[in-house]
Amino acid sequence: MRIPAASVLLALIVLSPACARRSEPAGVIPLAGMAPSWTFAGKARVIEAPKAMVVSGSPVASDVGTDILRQGGNAVDAAVAVGFALAVVHPEAGNIGGGGFMVIRLRNGEVQTLDYRETAPSRASRDMYLSAGPEASVTGHLSAGVPGAVAGLTEAHRRYGRLPLSVVIEPAIRLANDGFVVDEYRSRSIGEDSARLVLFPASRATFLSNDQPPAPGSTFRQPELGATLEAVRDSGAAGFYRGRVADLTVAEMERGGGLITREDLAAYRAIWRDPIEISYRGYTIYSMPPASSGGVTMGEILNIMEGYSPLPLFGSVALMHREAEAMRRAFTDRNRYLGDPGFVQNPVERLLSKEYATELREQIGEQASVTPKFDPGAPSGASTTHYSVVDAEGNAVSCTTTLNNSYGSAVTVTGAGFLLNDEMDDFATSPGQPNMYGLVQGEANAIAPGKRMLSAMTPSIVLDPEKQLYLIVGTPGGPKIITMVYHVISNVIDHRMPLPRAVEAPRNHHQALPDSLQVEDGGFLPVVLDSLRGRGHGISSRDPWGDVEAIIRTPGGWQGVSDPRLGGGGAGY
Ligand code: DON
Repeated sequence: MRIPAASVLLALIVLSPACARRSEPAGVIPLAGMAPSWTFAGKARVIEAPKAMVVSGSPVASDVGTDILRQGGNAVDAAVAVGFALAVVHPEAGNIGGGGFMVIRLRNGEVQTLDYRETAPSRASRDMYLSAGPEASVTGHLSAGVPGAVAGLTEAHRRYGRLPLSVVIEPAIRLANDGFVVDEYRSRSIGEDSARLVLFPASRATFLSNDQPPAPGSTFRQPELGATLEAVRDSGAAGFYRGRVADLTVAEMERGGGLITREDLAAYRAIWRDPIEISYRGYTIYSMPPASSGGVTMGEILNIMEGYSPLPLFGSVALMHREAEAMRRAFTDRNRYLGDPGFVQNPVERLLSKEYATELREQIGEQASVTPKFDPGAPSGASTTHYSVVDAEGNAVSCTTTLNNSYGSAVTVTGAGFLLNDEMDDFATSPGQPNMYGLVQGEANAIAPGKRMLSAMTPSIVLDPEKQLYLIVGTPGGPKIITMVYHVISNVIDHRMPLPRAVEAPRNHHQALPDSLQVEDGGFLPVVLDSLRGRGHGISSRDPWGDVEAIIRTPGGWQGVSDPRLGGGGAGY
């Protein structure tokens, strides 16, 4: 009797033991395990270029970065230009009123990370949102941390840039003053948040006309933002943190009951930090240390998964069960232990040791465990955007930046034309209670004056086993950022997917609490999800998430991939 090949495959996906061997040669898509009608199959936006490349959440910003590379700028010049341009052409997340993290690897092997995360204003306090109410950490003046973006971009440029700042920032100024043509995606995005934007007069005047978003195809100008960028061009970071722009920011705070003072702005500094370095099956991954939890949490997941060798098939019950359990454990540690290293001791070495990963792996059986009741420890839509850059010399930048929510606090600084973040919600605004992303976090991430709120942003750079630059990757998505970057890396290394397939592939996510495995709706086989339920996993189907912007080395140069889920695109030469 002949058994149909499809039945054999299905049995492997549902019943496969941890060590099922794959026979696909490198480069073949393991379609097994993906729902046949998966919305994004074959939809990734792909570009190829021999020398240099930028991929970002906005095709216009990617063009800006590529032009800077063509003018002789290096990857850092291009990243800084893209960062400023995104503040103009991708206002849901690109910003100068927010913050971010940048991982830089120079062609000589030097790796640095820059933390320009926002800080809590000096007048902030641990329990400020208990009286102000939970909405106050998400919308309005009180939700804003002291912005870090301008300090970060100008500091990265000061240390590594080659072209003058005036050249690098000029495209953003031009796009703000002369305008840019709004595409479908950005028009829809502004429309979706219009109910929040109308609440604040300067946001209403900047982004809406008759309370409607700019129509696709129309030209959108932001002259006040242009003037703010000109102040940065002329005076560097001081053009933002002191003088007229700072006065306007403080006046906005006073108008709306916010906390940021002139002194908070003057005191803000970006911080250079050593990267998190993770070894995974011979590859080396550099990512962000705290104040982002990204590198540590992803490292913990990768270290646990490395012990399953080779990994079960993509989309199989065996794989998804083990991933859920690894993610559960990594997020339990994240939520309990991690916070701004200026304020709390982060047990990074222990959390990232292979011995600890073995200990955690040994706890994982064939049934789902239960996330332990959260112990906050002893007192002591969302939108972000990522861009990846590689220049013709092989210098690379991986950068994620955010206002937190789409359009941040929804407050535009009157007269200065930029949106303020609502990053205060990334703190444990009420330790032990879920935040906007359902994250339940502890005392390590409680609010304190001047403290950086814990992030999940995971800009990463991967080297191949020969220590050559291989992959530059990151994405928005709140806590799901960590598991998305994990998935792309594992899809490429373990499941041998070409990068476009690795980015399109359906995603799953577990963050300890809520205690359920989140899966992209329509991405996985129902029989697999049923079997996971049988093992005790709560399954929560969600709308697709993320906007991975990644670049991988190819024999002919570079391949850039923009996630088909949102509106990004790349450019290169
Ligand atoms: O830093 C963080 O972890 C969050 N503020 C990121 C928010 C985010 O990615 C929302 N985008 N989809």
